[in-house]
Amino acid sequence: MRSLHMSKFFSPYNVRKFCPFRPSLNTIAAPKSVLNRSSPSLPLQSATPIQQTRTNSTKMSAQQQNQRFSLENVFNVKGRVALVTGGGSGIGLMATQALAVNGAKVYITGRTEEKLDRVASLYSQDIPGQIIPVAADITSKPSIEALVQEISAKEPALHILINNAGISSATQNTELTSAAELSSELFNKTSFEEWESLYRTNVSQLYFVTAAFLPLLQKGTEREHGWSSTVVNVSSISGIVKLAQHHFPYNASKGAAVHLTRMLAHEVASSGLKIRVNGIAPGVFPSEMTAGESDDIQKSSIPKEKYEGKVPAGRPGKDEDMAGAVLFTTANQYLNGQTIVVDGGYVLAAGTV
Ligand SMILES: NC(=O)c1ccc[n+]([C@@H]2O[C@H](COP(=O)([O-])OP(=O)(O)OC[C@H]3O[C@@H](n4cnc5c(N)ncnc54)[C@H](OP(=O)(O)O)[C@@H]3O)[C@@H](O)[C@H]2O)c1
Repeated sequence: MRSLHMSKFFSPYNVRKFCPFRPSLNTIAAPKSVLNRSSPSLPLQSATPIQQTRTNSTKMSAQQQNQRFSLENVFNVKGRVALVTGGGSGIGLMATQALAVNGAKVYITGRTEEKLDRVASLYSQDIPGQIIPVAADITSKPSIEALVQEISAKEPALHILINNAGISSATQNTELTSAAELSSELFNKTSFEEWESLYRTNVSQLYFVTAAFLPLLQKGTEREHGWSSTVVNVSSISGIVKLAQHHFPYNASKGAAVHLTRMLAHEVASSGLKIRVNGIAPGVFPSEMTAGESDDIQKSSIPKEKYEGKVPAGRPGKDEDMAGAVLFTTANQYLNGQTIVVDGGYVLAAGTV
């Protein structure tokens, strides 16, 4: 009985069943705010926008209809205010450029002021958007609070938060075949301290930074018709594949980041807030983490040959690959609770469980 009931509930062909007036169906997924109040309206249901779209669409000319499909409309981030943590290098810099070049005002943060300043002065030239550096350590509550204060003092709202900052861990040899050797390698080559530090930067901060910016993000939704503010957590395919990739702590932290993204999306939505929470799980991209350094324009490189034969794409990710993922994840108003994998087929090749 239960499975029949559930399948009807989730079927797109039973939309009438997902009716706020039917409490037996609602109890499974109704937002907290709805369960706590007498009004039967569901704040996250898109009944009004869909109706508006239908009304609009019948009044629009064919040309206007076509315009809705243009890249400028579908991936529009013009005038949006964004914050990218770890925006001074690697993937954070790619996300920053994707947004700023397309007209967003992007605050970038990290611990190293010079990196942020260099990025702002190099990449803010002659583009429709802006890049503004603000140094902060996102693993410290006072530093996060100061960041919220600084951005709140300058902006009435935040539309996009990209939680990208992260660190890697030391490697272990996982190919050993004797129990004693494998035991020693796994036990001695990492420490509780390393796991804690990694979780602090790769997991806990996603939670604290997101929590701290919720009010400013909600204002972003309320001020812009047709826009729901968005959080994008940069996790990794390392949190999805079954391999440890020689670094158990890093992969476990990224697995936690993927699940944290799902939980935050659910809890924020079911609290009646219109803030989308999604993730991007990159494969291998050039960055200070993967290449060990960046050059005088804060860019890193990985030789293509290193990944030939290792991933179906036969190469590491490019800036454009990440830009597409960032614009899709931030601008698509119907995406919520998902982690988008951009990996040239790495997960296909490596396999999940
Ligand atoms: N590159 C890849 O192949 C790849 C693949 C999958 C996932 N990722 C993930 O992508 C994200 C970006 O990494 P990346 O590869 O682009 O490496 P990256 O170039 O080293 O960038 C990481 C950035 O995070 C900042 N950061 C680190 N700790 C911080 C802290 N406590 N407070 C504020 N900022 C901090 C760093 O700046 P400061 O040191 O100046 O603070 C740095 O700019 C990470 O979450 C990483 O795990 C990367």
